[in-house]
This record gives sequence, C-alpha cells and structure tokens, in this order.
Amino acid sequence: MSLSDAARAARENAYAPYSNFKVGAALRTPSGAVFSGCNVENVAYPEGTCAEAGALAAMVAAGETKLSEVYVIADSLEPVTPCGGCRQKLAEFGAPDLKVTMATTAGREKSMTLAELLPGAFSQSHMDNT
Ligand code: THU
Repeated sequence: MSLSDAARAARENAYAPYSNFKVGAALRTPSGAVFSGCNVENVAYPEGTCAEAGALAAMVAAGETKLSEVYVIADSLEPVTPCGGCRQKLAEFGAPDLKVTMATTAGREKSMTLAELLPGAFSQSHMDNT
C-alpha cells in the first residue's frame, strides 16, 4: 500500500470531535512495512494525540525503530505540517535527511527533510557534559 493511501485511510478513522480537523499519518520503515495513525482527541484537550504519534507508536509496538519515509495528510488549504512536538518525535527515529511529505486531501503535496522541519533538533549529544 502506498503511504498516501495508508495515511488517507487512517485519517478517515481520526477521532477529532473538538477540532473537527482529521489528520492521517503513515510511515515506511527500511523493512518496507507501513504503519499508520490518526489524531485521537480527548475532552481533556491536552490529552489528545497527533496522527504522527499514533503511527510512531504502531511502528514501535511492531518492533521497528527506524523511519525511511513519512506522509501526513489533512483537509487543509496548505499541506499540513507536523507540530513541533511531532517533529521532535520523528527525530527520535529518523535521520536528518528523512523525507516528510505533507499533503492536502485535495492532492497538494509538499516534501521537506526532517532537518528542514526541525533545525537544531535536541539530541543525545546535547546531554554530554564532559
Ligand atoms: N494534528 C495532528 O494530528 N498532526 C499534525 O501534524 C498537526 C495537528 C492534530 C492535533 C489535533 O487533534 C488537531 O490536529 C488540531 O490541532
């Protein structure tokens, strides 16, 4: 299944009664496997989770921890960009040159690397103090 199709399908199941903004995400790993997720909101608003977080959780639950490509889709005028927190979550498992494609349901797409989306990402090396 293409990442686009997987993300679109996951988006259909998004639970977004508060924002009414459904998002779908799909990830491919080096093994070729595809994992998808959708946003899951909560009446206690900060407890809601993004589509990217759901897809990453599915990947890790399946025993994989490397990303080779990411796709995010929403019904927006401009391709939807991952929030700041999700950029850092993607950086946990993706290299700086990871391709992230952002899309609209109408078919607009824009691709950027993770390094472009999150310059200066916090990393393990920042915790070195010797
Ligand atoms: N959202 C995502 O799931 N991913 C993004 O990349 C941007 C925002 C969700 C969070 C919330 O449920 C809704 O979109 C509105 O912010």
